[in-house]
Amino acid sequence: MIKTFAIAAVAALTLSGTNAYAAGAAGEIHDVDFSFEGPFGKFDQNQLQRGLQVYTEVCASCHGLQYVPLRTLGDEGGPHLPADQVRAYAEQNFEVFDAELDDTRPAKPSDNFPANTGAGAPDLSMMAKARAGFHGPYGTGMAQLFKGMGGPEYIVAILDGYTGEEKEEAGTYFYENTAFPGGWISMAPPLSDEQVEYADGHDNSVHHMAEDVSAFLMWAAEPKMMARKQAGLTGVIILTIMSVLLYLTNKRLWARVKGKKSA
Ligand code: HEC
Repeated sequence: MIKTFAIAAVAALTLSGTNAYAAGAAGEIHDVDFSFEGPFGKFDQNQLQRGLQVYTEVCASCHGLQYVPLRTLGDEGGPHLPADQVRAYAEQNFEVFDAELDDTRPAKPSDNFPANTGAGAPDLSMMAKARAGFHGPYGTGMAQLFKGMGGPEYIVAILDGYTGEEKEEAGTYFYENTAFPGGWISMAPPLSDEQVEYADGHDNSVHHMAEDVSAFLMWAAEPKMMARKQAGLTGVIILTIMSVLLYLTNKRLWARVKGKKSA
């Protein structure tokens, strides 16, 4: 009996521990302690700004972000850039096609980030939520509750998972990647150490740039995450107070009846 229990306990621990980020068919994905995880998690404004910089300087040449409105860069809880910086950023970095002008013009805060279909690279607007570091609640499901689905971890692992091996198949180059399902991705390693110069002097090794851009992409995919968590917490608090009040009310209402019985 005790033996069966011990085996079950070990099995449960193994499932909730090691397997949590071993990721089904995909490759190797490691947990990252992002500031936005857990019930009280918040986006780190500086990290989002650094991530925006990495996206702009490196990823935007191949990947669009077409569902993200440029004006949201000024939102509190997001990168929170001042309005004039949002305007300057839009103007300096992107051109959009204006149907009214029948011509292209510099982007405005009222536009979205442009789409980019040229390089055959997927749009990154929803990427952090479309991918998962692990699938389904393993073990107790606690890892999922406190660490999320691992979408940003998956992106970090992709950017940091190149082995340096490459091959050519039917005219396309593939690069060996320990995180990509199948092991070979057609995206050339986009990052190299110290490629992006951070104004805040933060570490700009590949791993740190990967973390920053992944945090930014998580924000892009779910800009209202903080509001959602707050609403959830408020809901739990209200329901707890309601339960206590209902319990006391119930006791009070039945006090007369129950009192008679015991008398
Ligand atoms: C030179 C063009 C290029 C650049 C620059 C580039 N990518 Fe990619 N990326 C691609 C292509 C092409 C694919 C599709 C790869 C495939 O499916 O084999 C891709 C795929 C991806 C994927 C999806 C992997 C999946 O699970 O399908 C992610 C995430 C990604 N890129 C993130 C980034 C980030 C973040 C940056 C900036 C740091 C970046 N990429 C820079 C070309 C690029």
